[in-house]
Amino acid sequence: MKILLVNIKELVQVEEEPKLWVAGKDMAKIHTVKDAFLLMRDEMIVDFGPMDELNKRDLDNYDVLMEIDCSGRMVFPSFCDSHTHLVYPASREQEFVDKINGLSYEEIARRGGGILNSARRLHEMSEEELCASALERISEIIYKGTGAVEIKSGYGLNPEDEIKMLRVIRRLKESTPLAIKSTFLGAHSIPIEYRDNPSVYVDQIINDMLPRIAEEELADYIDVFCDTGFFTVADTERILEAGAEYGLLPKIHANELGLTGGVQVGVKNKALSVDHLEYLGDDEINVLKHSHTMPTILPGAAFFLDLPLSPARKLIDSGLPVALATDFNPGSSPSGDMKFMQSLGCIRYKMLPEEVINATTINSAYAMGISDGYGSIARGKAANVFITREIPSYQYFPYAYNSELIETVILRGEIQ
Ligand code: NIG
Ligand code: FE
Repeated sequence: MKILLVNIKELVQVEEEPKLWVAGKDMAKIHTVKDAFLLMRDEMIVDFGPMDELNKRDLDNYDVLMEIDCSGRMVFPSFCDSHTHLVYPASREQEFVDKINGLSYEEIARRGGGILNSARRLHEMSEEELCASALERISEIIYKGTGAVEIKSGYGLNPEDEIKMLRVIRRLKESTPLAIKSTFLGAHSIPIEYRDNPSVYVDQIINDMLPRIAEEELADYIDVFCDTGFFTVADTERILEAGAEYGLLPKIHANELGLTGGVQVGVKNKALSVDHLEYLGDDEINVLKHSHTMPTILPGAAFFLDLPLSPARKLIDSGLPVALATDFNPGSSPSGDMKFMQSLGCIRYKMLPEEVINATTINSAYAMGISDGYGSIARGKAANVFITREIPSYQYFPYAYNSELIETVILRGEIQ
């Protein structure tokens, strides 16, 4: 299959020399080509450039099959959503109401609600049922512009159910056009029966879950919810060290509820990303500066739970990169809308449109370990792009925060 897009008003986030991430002042820059063409063949981007160079390129050899006129429309690389929990058994709107009535996320969790509520329901469901509901969410995010997604386990919390979740994620990898990375999050919450002795549950994660998951090659990464009331730094360290023996790089939940040392333990264990970061001091920023770890902000969770905001400006102004992801899950962020994350990034975190574009494409691709093949328009990268409706400028995209602006989605070189 070959697709040639012509007369593109502006082709956004192009790279002649692809980078793995952009940081600091560079986050405010993006490269675009006005009045552009884009050629995709099979699953790859083959070429792009200004329209007046199209006739100089040797297109005959490409035997173009489909040409799409994009007059007035812009083309962006698909979003990479590097943090989701989109395999889950059911929505949790009762807790939404409890929160309106004054309960906090931590109080709900202490009462056996929250993650444990999802775990109880997940136990009752089959792989088929979980897969069917996840596919509905996948279809929703595809049309909202996402082309790659990381999905975590963590609503199993025992060996059988964690493996069940990871098998569902494997099925999604096999049956959808998205690029999917799976993360083992056995350490998402401490089951009630281990509340007085959490280290026994940590032993179970290390001794019973990890070996089986590694043997079936069910996980790409490993995660721990290292935060107040959940897992300690010492638990986290043990789990990450055990994961490293199976070659699993960490991507961890850190500093959502307090200054708990999550960032430090993540960086020390070579985490690909540390995510949430509502609580962040100078020590965390210094540690990140000397790392290859992507600071990842989840604006949907802070919006939905009304948490303090992660200091995105301070991170970027310190020369660091920032990624944005949705955290799509039933308890703290029931939305997988990356365009809305861009808008929240601009409105609430004072990020520039260029910065949120970088944060939701190349940097979030890095945060899921795929920025060599995704996250920008570059020759040889995946043909994952979307065509907008007619819009006046790329700044309009995060500005029009509740408008559906995506007209056509192309993933792996095929129109969806
Ligand atoms: O990233 N913070 C921990 N875990 C999820 C919430 C999961 C849930 O409440 O079901 C999060 O916000
Ligand atoms: Fe999360």
